[in-house]
Amino acid sequence: MPTPNDIKPRAPLAPVLARGTFGAPHRPAAASVLGAGDVRMVTSGRIAIALALREMHVGAGDTVLVPAYHSMSMIPPVLACGARVVFYKVGPDAQVDLADIAARLDATVKVLMVTHYFGIAQNMAALRALCDKDALFLLEDCAHCFFGEHEGKPAGYWGDYAIASSMKFFPIYEGGCLVSARHVLRTPPTVSAGKGFEVKACLNALENSFAYGRLPLVHALLWLPLKLKAALWGRLKQRAAPALTGTLTPSSSDSSYEFDARWLDKRASWFSRTVIAHASHARIVARRRANYLQLQQALVGLPGCRPLFAALPDGACPWLFPLLVDAPQPLFERLLAARVPMTRFAETLWPGAEMCANSAALSRQVIAFPVHQELRADEVAWMTVAIRAALAA
Ligand SMILES: Cc1ncc(COP(=O)(O)O)c(C=O)c1O
Repeated sequence: MPTPNDIKPRAPLAPVLARGTFGAPHRPAAASVLGAGDVRMVTSGRIAIALALREMHVGAGDTVLVPAYHSMSMIPPVLACGARVVFYKVGPDAQVDLADIAARLDATVKVLMVTHYFGIAQNMAALRALCDKDALFLLEDCAHCFFGEHEGKPAGYWGDYAIASSMKFFPIYEGGCLVSARHVLRTPPTVSAGKGFEVKACLNALENSFAYGRLPLVHALLWLPLKLKAALWGRLKQRAAPALTGTLTPSSSDSSYEFDARWLDKRASWFSRTVIAHASHARIVARRRANYLQLQQALVGLPGCRPLFAALPDGACPWLFPLLVDAPQPLFERLLAARVPMTRFAETLWPGAEMCANSAALSRQVIAFPVHQELRADEVAWMTVAIRAALAA
């Protein structure tokens, strides 16, 4: 059975560099984790989780409460610092279950990790109050919500520490951030992972963009140098494979859940930081919201499925459009055959998390579609027709 990794979708699942990436509008300024407080730009969200835990002095004997509905990449950083993971339940709509969290508190619990799934905020005032009452650290997982505001505050404002996964929102090869609105970060400024990594970060983003027909002029100009690079790279890999493993590619950029502590002191590439600094944030938010609403309008009310969220809240900037499907496997296979870009967030859960029936159901039943800013109008239109056809078949 082929997987989405075997079949190239007809439209990009994640943002790709395009002509409009740096274009207007740049106003109004978009709320984002970057405005929430002190920031360190690192290479992934999981590295930022590990750094946040280090800032909180989490170690052996401590417990971190983690949602049973999670990305597998959230767990290894907790285990790596010697702490224990205890899962808590979420509701059928992926809202955290406050009563279940309260029931799991004991003297060892030091941190509560909370995820804003698909860019839709959790009830942060209530969670902040719970953490203040019980003297817990709140780790706000903004991997799905680099942008957006909730109750007038930017994503990342509520947590003692927050993390984000920049590569989900920008056309970049790697990137994550550690943020704190409430503490001065002690994590020292990070260092470059080296020239090879810097070059790879840039070339990979360009090649990804070319693969979807973007930037054709740049592609034509770089065609020969890229061919030569591919040949050279093939040879180098054959000769020096073990030495290169993990030094150029963070596992986070390789669709893997692994955690590699060698990236803890490495900063995001110059290329990623430049794209994040100069891309139009207002455009990203506006395009994502518009694409989300277009999919919602096209799919709401169809038999056999419903949008996971009843509405897109004002101020939210979605990562993907999650659809809750009654019979996900046949639909998934039809979508794959039609080469529709999609992903199944939390498709595999860490052992022990199935104790939450809602998480198990969400893990199985949610199929999520891209809404990113670099989808062209014709791609969104084609995608909605293809999804409707797959649902009707
Ligand atoms: C909810 C959530 N948190 C954290 C992460 C880790 O982010 P990264 O892949 O940038 O390490 C992910 C990755 O998918 C995620 O989905």
